[in-house]
Amino acid sequence: MMAKDVFLDPVAVQDLYRSADRLSRRTDALHQAKITGSDVAAAIPTLLRQAGAPHGTALDIGCGRGTTTLRLATAATFVRLVAIDVSPALLATTRRRLQATALGASTTTVCADFHCLPIRSQTISAVVAAFCLYHSPRPATAVAEIARVLAPGGIAVLVTKSLDSYAELDDLVARAELDPQATRRPSLYETFHSASIAAITATGLSVLDVLHERHVFRFAGHAHAAVYLATSPKYQMGAANGDPDAIATALRSRLPDRPIETASTVSYAIARCP
Ligand SMILES: C[S@@+](CC[C@H](N)C(=O)[O-])C[C@H]1O[C@@H](n2cnc3c(N)ncnc32)[C@H](O)[C@@H]1O
Repeated sequence: MMAKDVFLDPVAVQDLYRSADRLSRRTDALHQAKITGSDVAAAIPTLLRQAGAPHGTALDIGCGRGTTTLRLATAATFVRLVAIDVSPALLATTRRRLQATALGASTTTVCADFHCLPIRSQTISAVVAAFCLYHSPRPATAVAEIARVLAPGGIAVLVTKSLDSYAELDDLVARAELDPQATRRPSLYETFHSASIAAITATGLSVLDVLHERHVFRFAGHAHAAVYLATSPKYQMGAANGDPDAIATALRSRLPDRPIETASTVSYAIARCP
């Protein structure tokens, strides 16, 4: 039987975000590889401004390490920011990063589940949910919560990736026999992806626009790809799981060491409180 999408297993998700370390290594490896595609965290404040978000309080839900929260703080469009995540470790990282840049003064961090936001109804000017709703087995419930907390005229920007993201890496892992089933494993983005973002957002919000941008990545060789692969919960690589050196050694033993290109579509839904 094929494994389920591990991004939907609450115990696995808790483990993935128990510390900020895995997410940092994953994001750094991807950023080093990126050859085309906008800086998503930088694009979000611009999209909110262009959509006419009022200037009150903004929520960054599933804030992770606070990369978007920092951009929202720097843009200074909002009077108050609330960064929400279910992981205490990632909230601590967000707080540290905000304090280090002296941008933390008007930002609160709150540990909560985005299916049940501890926020009064109709009080929020803007909600951002970037690369997190694919962790929900029922993202429409999170969208309903976003709709509940947004004040009339409030704007939401939801962001996700395509189902086919990084397919060339699945192929690499399968060809190297690290995980022969790699190309058949479910996408990590099954419940909220580029093809479903508009319909799911429309279950609770008025969709103003949906944007898609193809991001292309070029990993320098096996060592670079291995750093990223070691952070992926998608594969079952036995003893090599989580070990970049073991993954690089296995790749080198079976395939010529050369750069590998892969891609992912990043999709944004810009929506208004109905
Ligand atoms: C890939 S990170 C995204 C971080 C950030 N938004 C960004 O764009 O860099 C996904 C985040 O979603 C959080 N998350 C997952 N399920 C959640 C839930 N049910 N409620 C709140 N946060 C959740 C995780 O703890 C993690 O920090």
